Amino acid sequence: MKIQNFFSTPIYFKDLIAGSRKASADRLRRDLLKQCYLVRDTDPEGLEWSQEHYPNGYTSYGSITDLHRRYPHFEELSREIDRHVKIFARHLEMDLQEGCLEMTSLWVNIMPTTVTHTSHLHPLSVLSGTYYVSVPQGASALKFEAPRLAMMMAAPPKLPGAAVRNQPFITLQPRPGQVALWESWLRHEVPPNKSQKDRVSISFNYNWR
Ligand code: NI
Repeated sequence: MKIQNFFSTPIYFKDLIAGSRKASADRLRRDLLKQCYLVRDTDPEGLEWSQEHYPNGYTSYGSITDLHRRYPHFEELSREIDRHVKIFARHLEMDLQEGCLEMTSLWVNIMPTTVTHTSHLHPLSVLSGTYYVSVPQGASALKFEAPRLAMMMAAPPKLPGAAVRNQPFITLQPRPGQVALWESWLRHEVPPNKSQKDRVSISFNYNWR
């Protein structure tokens, strides 16, 4: 008997900028860290939105999602992410025909201690992802939910130590400077930040144009 696995759910994690360009990777990350706080400190509308939708934290998701069109460092980031998106789309064997995948939104997330981002997906997009600016020791990882979980109405739980491919959730720990990509329908969350320091990330969506 042969059992094959179908309907794969790839998740892409890679350094935004490869080792040979480490100096520019570090420079961009430092610049972006400053920029993220600058965005927060000059975005009263976003701070207000975050009070309701992102308690104790800040996200520009409700106020400024075109950072890549406004500021050079975010524009530079978007160009670097474009390279990874092309690789991931090729891996997924997407037939983009005459079109391409284009970044449609880019926003900042600052999560102080205990802040959480509950389970969600990114509707109306093709690919989504996050660039990690600052992930202090003990800061939350990224948790993904198996896309069929909602259909497992009577399924028994998995054995302790079950293979990763059979887990209903998978938690991946990002490192600063990494970019993560996944298909936008994949549900994910950020558990509470247990670090005393801020976890800072920049998230984005891509559409087929
Ligand atoms: Ni998300």
